[in-house]
Amino acid sequence: MHNRRTFLLKGGAGLLGLFIPEVLSAGHPLPETPKIDLAGKSWKEIRSHFDLSQDVTFLNNGTMGPSPRMVVERIKQSLDHTNARAVYGGGKKLAKSSLAEFLQVDVKEIALTHNVTEGINISAWGLPLKKGDEIILTDQEHVGNGLPWLHRAKTDKLKVKILRLKPTASETLDALKSLIGPKTKVVAVPHITCTTGQVLPVKEICSLAKKKGVISVIDGAHGTGMIPLNLKDIGCDIYASCCHKWLLGPKGTGYLYVSEPCQDKLMALFVGGYSGLKWSVHKEETYVSAEYTTFAHKYHYGTQDAAPYFGIGTAVDFNTSIGKDRIFKRIKSLNQYLLDGVVELKHSVEILTPQEDESRGGVLSFRFAGINSSNLKKELDKKGIVVRHVAESDLDALRVSTHLYNFEEEIDNLLYELKRLLAN
Ligand SMILES: Cc1ncc(COP(=O)(O)O)c(C=O)c1O
Repeated sequence: MHNRRTFLLKGGAGLLGLFIPEVLSAGHPLPETPKIDLAGKSWKEIRSHFDLSQDVTFLNNGTMGPSPRMVVERIKQSLDHTNARAVYGGGKKLAKSSLAEFLQVDVKEIALTHNVTEGINISAWGLPLKKGDEIILTDQEHVGNGLPWLHRAKTDKLKVKILRLKPTASETLDALKSLIGPKTKVVAVPHITCTTGQVLPVKEICSLAKKKGVISVIDGAHGTGMIPLNLKDIGCDIYASCCHKWLLGPKGTGYLYVSEPCQDKLMALFVGGYSGLKWSVHKEETYVSAEYTTFAHKYHYGTQDAAPYFGIGTAVDFNTSIGKDRIFKRIKSLNQYLLDGVVELKHSVEILTPQEDESRGGVLSFRFAGINSSNLKKELDKKGIVVRHVAESDLDALRVSTHLYNFEEEIDNLLYELKRLLAN
């Protein structure tokens, strides 16, 4: 009998499977949450939405952003719903459309991932590169961008060229101009470095890459939620980011933006349910559709947890309701307050983050002559002050991130402890 059940069992599910989760949850969708309205609310009120413990001075949002309670509650609500009604799925569609609107791109250009590293790996392995091709990285990479490209380069004998970052955007751009040659195929650089928080002139970098026929892949770990992003305006081919840092979203969630024209170049190496490819194994000849053109969703595969995806939607709403520009202004003003305070410590401090305004955001890195920053970080930990130690590129520095939930008093607390430790 060729009923719906046998059809599903026979592998015809290849096409149908794409829609199964939304179908399974369709009868009992997760109830919608009330509209979030934080426009014009004070920072104190906004902070009250976080469960951050009073005895923690959290200044390491660059590693992980705590979520406001409403995001955590939405995740829990979805988990409960899944297990109470035995339905799964949903959430993905909402997460993608929320992110697309937030980033001002088409929803067809967004794939959901678990972190930045996954997006970078999809890019590093899926682009058509061959022996002798050149890729450009910077001298300030996080392992999540550096290692996948080095791994691909080693496997396929590609040449890696290093862009040494300069203190100003225009000098960095000039350095890149002189590095791009006829064999350069990819420029893979961070939007904001993990080491010093330097904001790179990505719009100009992508425009230069485009003119030279080079693919631009931006490691956007720190972009989403810190900087008011318009990815179309930046003009990158690929932007790999996460929701668990500056967006204050669920942990282990991210996205990969692949511009529509670039989707033909970036092959999906991992495929399966949700990739959108047609296939069959039950006929005379096995079949898989030739065209890998089912939008950025082709980079999805297999069953996923719906709960974090619902959380992404709420995190985007939280940010949008406060306002992207207002958030960035707050982040920058706190960071300026921090910079002024650190400079005043006068203890032979070396500020590693560029001083140029356009090259700075919500991250400041610095170190003190003759002082081991790793030990300094451990001492701060004992006081409940959380910052990051920067070991990358042998910097041995402290990195401090400031986000919308922080207050000047917390920065004062850090400065007070630094002063005390430096005096000992
Ligand atoms: C610049 C940069 N790139 C990539 C990553 C890796 O991010 P994820 O852990 O989401 O893969 C980080 C994480 O801190 C980072 O700072």
